[in-house]
Amino acid sequence: MQLASLISSCNNYTHPLSIKGEQNPIAVKAENLKFSFKSLAPPLMAALVALSPLCYTPVSNGQTIDIQRGGSLFRQACIGCHDAGGNIIQPGATLYMKDLQRNGVDTEEEIYRITYYGKGRMPGFGSECMPRGQCTFGARLEDDDIKVLAEFVKMQADQGWPTIQD
Ligand code: HEC
Repeated sequence: MQLASLISSCNNYTHPLSIKGEQNPIAVKAENLKFSFKSLAPPLMAALVALSPLCYTPVSNGQTIDIQRGGSLFRQACIGCHDAGGNIIQPGATLYMKDLQRNGVDTEEEIYRITYYGKGRMPGFGSECMPRGQCTFGARLEDDDIKVLAEFVKMQADQGWPTIQD
């Protein structure tokens, strides 16, 4: 499935190496594609890219997320309540995939939205977060930083929150 997604990303070109039964690669939204790239181990991804000679765009560039920057933003703004992906205020709303899924927020878009506007007892960090009472009293985050954080949280959730080295 991931192989099919990757191949179908090459301008819908169906690669001759397509796995049997995957001739009509399921349409995958661009965002979802990004996730499948990220979740592939780099060597495997390199192999898949090498298998797609018509894919001239260096798919890994710009799609590899900035783990270090995400990790450092997370330590600054989120770790107080979400240490190691948990939730010290609301145990049923951790950043683990099972909770994100159950709460219907397992996409980068939803994570972005919650981080931006907040939810319940979680303050929003967006520069235009409204209403004020729902937003952090501390420093707001740039949209771009929230994007990096959303990617980071999604990736960590996909991988079961492995420890990130400094
Ligand atoms: C003051 C404590 C606090 C801080 C700081 C905080 N959160 Fe939260 N977060 C919460 C609480 C409480 C919830 C549950 C909200 C709800 O569902 O009503 C939550 C929920 C979430 C969820 C949804 C989880 C789920 O399973 O439903 C995401 C995603 C999230 N936070 C991301 C972040 C990110 C990213 C940051 C850092 C920018 C952050 N949070 C900072 C308290 C916090």
